[in-house]
Amino acid sequence: KKVVLAYSGGLDTSVILKWIALTYNCEVVTLTADLGQEEDLDGVDEKALATGATRAYVEDLREEFARDYIFPMMRANAIYEGRYLLGTSIARPLITKRLIEIAHEEGAQAVAHGATGKGNDQVRFELSAMALDPSIKVIAPWREWNFRSRTDLNNFAEQHGIPLPVAASRKLYSMDRNMLHCSFEGGELESPWLEPGPGSYIMAVPVEEAPDEAEYIELEFINGDPVALNGEKLSPAEMVKALNTVGGKHGVGRLDMVENRFVGMKSRGVYETPGGTILHVAHRDLEGICLDRDTMHLRDSMIPKYAECIYNGFWFAPEREAMQKLIDETQKNVSGTVRIKLYKGNVIPVGRKSPYSLYREDLATFEEDDVYDQADAAGFIKLQGLRLLGYKK
Ligand code: ARG
Ligand code: SIN
Repeated sequence: KKVVLAYSGGLDTSVILKWIALTYNCEVVTLTADLGQEEDLDGVDEKALATGATRAYVEDLREEFARDYIFPMMRANAIYEGRYLLGTSIARPLITKRLIEIAHEEGAQAVAHGATGKGNDQVRFELSAMALDPSIKVIAPWREWNFRSRTDLNNFAEQHGIPLPVAASRKLYSMDRNMLHCSFEGGELESPWLEPGPGSYIMAVPVEEAPDEAEYIELEFINGDPVALNGEKLSPAEMVKALNTVGGKHGVGRLDMVENRFVGMKSRGVYETPGGTILHVAHRDLEGICLDRDTMHLRDSMIPKYAECIYNGFWFAPEREAMQKLIDETQKNVSGTVRIKLYKGNVIPVGRKSPYSLYREDLATFEEDDVYDQADAAGFIKLQGLRLLGYKK
């Protein structure tokens, strides 16, 4: 019997590794994915093997993550509850896809994850697995074992020679980081009134510490995807990384919100999404000149539903894929360049241009023109107002 475990190398997934091997009396193969979390993955394989894994995969999935997950989501301008850019949500389907593929290669019967029974992540892992291969079982130790507390978990770790993090490196928050964002939950954040502490800044500086000088950048898009920054062509993963650097420097992309989890509870989280925030704003701005009005409004009407799909774990689902086709179709003329000013947490578009621009200076001008007859507007308004005549009186 064999299980493929999503393994970060941290305390929790190390305990899980050992626990699964003992409880199910099976081989455990681990997958550690580099999704741009900027952690040193050197030695995680040795650590997994030392903790009892029979084989340890460590894989660089950064380009695939950016190209096939982040970018399609960004084309949709996806945003959950009007605020959250879905940095954790979008990573889960990719991790699951690799878990399932490795399960096939290894002839494993199950995959396992370290998400708790109270959160969204368990749902995302498991719905993705159900879509990709319903014959593979999912093991979720957090819902199965009898540990009642952190102390129980630490005791188990000590018994089995799993090193506990030293006090100084112990995390204040439950965090999840990848190239798109870092999330913080728990600790003082569980009280929605308390301001997040300094430990909740990793990717971006506090706005107070951002430079007093604004910085301008130019972002070029082709078919809705960013391809060059300040004239330099970048791969998808390089792009996200470069935007994080410049955005982080200016304190861009911080969010503190109470959101609705799919499992029913409200939860307070802090998110840093510096590069993603620049992309979101710039892409939307370019659409301003490239997208036809009604096409844009149709696509916009899908944003809440599309974002909910990703948040709730329905990435590999027919309705998400159908929406993606429509969205991608709308993006075929979303090519051009946006000029952006970054200043103390703000992302301010100041110019945009495109070979497909639908903007017509000759139509929009307040100066004299000969294409638009102002007298036509009188009839237009009169007929629009027919059904409002006397509505309030
Ligand atoms: N609340 C966010 C979401 O559901 C972040 C979840 C963070 N996950 C974690 N394992 N720390 O997408
Ligand atoms: C977890 O419960 O594992 C993290 C939080 C979440 O998934 O929403």
